[in-house]
Order: sequence, then C-alpha cells, then structure tokens
Amino acid sequence: MNALQRSDTPRIDVREVHSPEELEIIFQIRDEVFVREQALTPNARNDPDDKRSIHYLADFDGEPAGTGRVTMLGNEAQIAWVAVRKSRRGEGIGWRIMEVMIERSEEEGGEYIILNAQTHALRFYERLGFYSVGSVFTMANIPHQVMIHQLTPGGGETIRRYLESFGGR
Ligand SMILES: CC(C)(COP(=O)(O)OP(=O)(O)OC[C@H]1O[C@@H](n2cnc3c(N)ncnc32)[C@H](O)[C@@H]1OP(=O)(O)O)[C@@H](O)C(=O)NCCC(=O)NCCS
Repeated sequence: MNALQRSDTPRIDVREVHSPEELEIIFQIRDEVFVREQALTPNARNDPDDKRSIHYLADFDGEPAGTGRVTMLGNEAQIAWVAVRKSRRGEGIGWRIMEVMIERSEEEGGEYIILNAQTHALRFYERLGFYSVGSVFTMANIPHQVMIHQLTPGGGETIRRYLESFGGR
C-alpha cells in the first residue's frame, strides 16, 4: 500500500487534540503500549514537553487507536510517543499519524525532524524518509537509534552540524 492510498483510507482519522478528556485517551494508549506492553517507562504521563507539544489522536472506525506528538524547538521538530494499540497494528494507522506529523512539522517551520526510534521500527521510519545518525543506544533495555528527516534544503546544513556533534557519518 502506498502513502497516497493510506491518506485516502476513510477508516483512519488523525486529528490534533487539546482537551483534557482527549489527552487522557492519549495517556491511556501510552500506558497500554509504553508502560504495560514494553515496560519502557513506569510513567508515560509526566513528560514536561507535553505542555508545549502538538498532540495527535488517531481513530480507527471511530475508536481511539493511536497517538503521536510533535514538539517544535526553533527550527527543530521532535517527534515522540508514537504508538498504535497492539490490536490495531498493521492497518496503516502509524503511517498516517507519521504523515500528518511530518506535514505539520513542515508547516510549523521545521527544517528537520528528529526522533529516537526503537530499532525494531527502523525500517518503518526509513520508509517515511528518516535516516539513522550515530550509534544504537539502550534506553530501558530497549535499543534505540536517533533518526532524522530533512524537511528543507537549509535543514541540510543544520543536520550536517548535528552529525558533526555525533562525530561524523
Ligand atoms: C511502530 C508502530 C507505531 C507502527 O504502527 P502501525 O500502525 O502498526 O504501522 P502501519 O500499519 O502504519 O505500517 C506501515 C508500514 O510500515 C510497516 N511497519 C509497521 N511497523 C513496522 C516495524 N516495527 N518495523 C518495520 N516495518 C513496520 C508495515 O508493515 C507497513 O508496511 P506495508 O505498507 O508494506 O504494509 C507500531 O508498531 C507501535 O505502536 N509499536 C509499539 C510502540 C512503538 O514501538 N512505537 C515506536 C516508538 S519509536
């Protein structure tokens, strides 16, 4: 399935959310995936960047199914907390959430996007235009990899400096 077909899929609705009720649903999905399933963290609700971030909730057939977050830091867009409920994986939901967040990062003036990928998802992010920088590191017993997606030609220079800070590559 290609990106265009995914975008046209009517069963998936990805929207920005603000209300405490909708944020609670996001936290429930994070709890389900990152606390209970992966034991990545004991607490997925106290990230200080949540307050200044753009939060997305994905519904599948009207039921909450996935989430993700964009945080703008000047010309850098950070993506984090990307999760799809286990029972809903493989339906294109994660892909659609990422498409929306990449587009939003660009609209917000981001020159590049950076994220910490769990290495099992490297191929998923690579297919969305991300590439690996630096070495694999371990966080909560799960191997991770920093990945970057260049959004603007100017972003190339910023990324070059970023790569230098990793010692090249
Ligand atoms: C990673 C994750 C968000 C992907 O969401 P998803 O809704 O299952 O993914 P999609 O159905 O949109 O998949 C899109 C494509 O990527 C592929 N893909 C999905 N997850 C993948 C993975 N972990 N590794 C490689 N490819 C993957 C799918 O096979 C699909 O390819 P296709 O078009 O050939 O069928 C989801 O598996 C998840 O929530 N995992 C647990 C939490 C997690 O690890 N989050 C990432 C933190 S960095």
